[in-house]
Amino acid sequence: MEFMLDTINIEKIRYYQSILPLVGVTSNPSIIKKEGKIDLFAHLKEIKEIIGKGSLHVQVVGETTEEILADAQAILDQLGNDIFIKVPVNEAGLAAIKQLKEKGVNVTATAIYSEMQGYLAIAAGADYLAPYYNRMENLNIDAAAIIDALVAEIKRTHSSSKVLAASFKNVAQVNQACRKGAHSMTASPDIFAQVFSMPSIQEAVTNFQKDWEGTFNVQNVKALGDSEE
Ligand code: E4P
Repeated sequence: MEFMLDTINIEKIRYYQSILPLVGVTSNPSIIKKEGKIDLFAHLKEIKEIIGKGSLHVQVVGETTEEILADAQAILDQLGNDIFIKVPVNEAGLAAIKQLKEKGVNVTATAIYSEMQGYLAIAAGADYLAPYYNRMENLNIDAAAIIDALVAEIKRTHSSSKVLAASFKNVAQVNQACRKGAHSMTASPDIFAQVFSMPSIQEAVTNFQKDWEGTFNVQNVKALGDSEE
């Protein structure tokens, strides 16, 4: 599974970049809104520097195909050709995805709520497909089944597209997406924090440390090594 962070908060990206095996950072206009009216391109350039070879996914906002293509070009001009352009899979977006892929642009097809949207994005050559797990569940759509079907279609057609499962509200949803074969996931820092917040984890670490100290009367392995030199 590839792990990505769904935020443009610099502090959180720096923090989790040092902890997680991150391969990218994703964003959308609502995520950008949380940071306020920032100097967007300078901000995104800083994120690129922090994540190094990781991928940065930036979404268009234009509504027509022409507007989407113009947004995509502006993003590429400002941030470089390695950016993944996030395009919602509606009619205008799908037309744009086809054109972007003809030009060799990296594309993340987003706002996927149905199998058919995903099948079309795969056929159009999108690099990543972002099905919205929690939003689908809120609509009583079986998100796990959609991921399962998209993964099967990618395999069946020998496509190089990857399912980038997104829109998670809890770790159980991430686990389910992983079990269904999603190649990648993106989640907010809160979801990653949830992974490590189980009190039993720290309790186990504390107990191991106490047992060590009770046995050797030094705090850690290094201290024992030092004392035996
Ligand atoms: C990522 O590609 C999506 O834009 C994002 O995960 C949507 O998440 P939300 O449903 O929490 O807004």
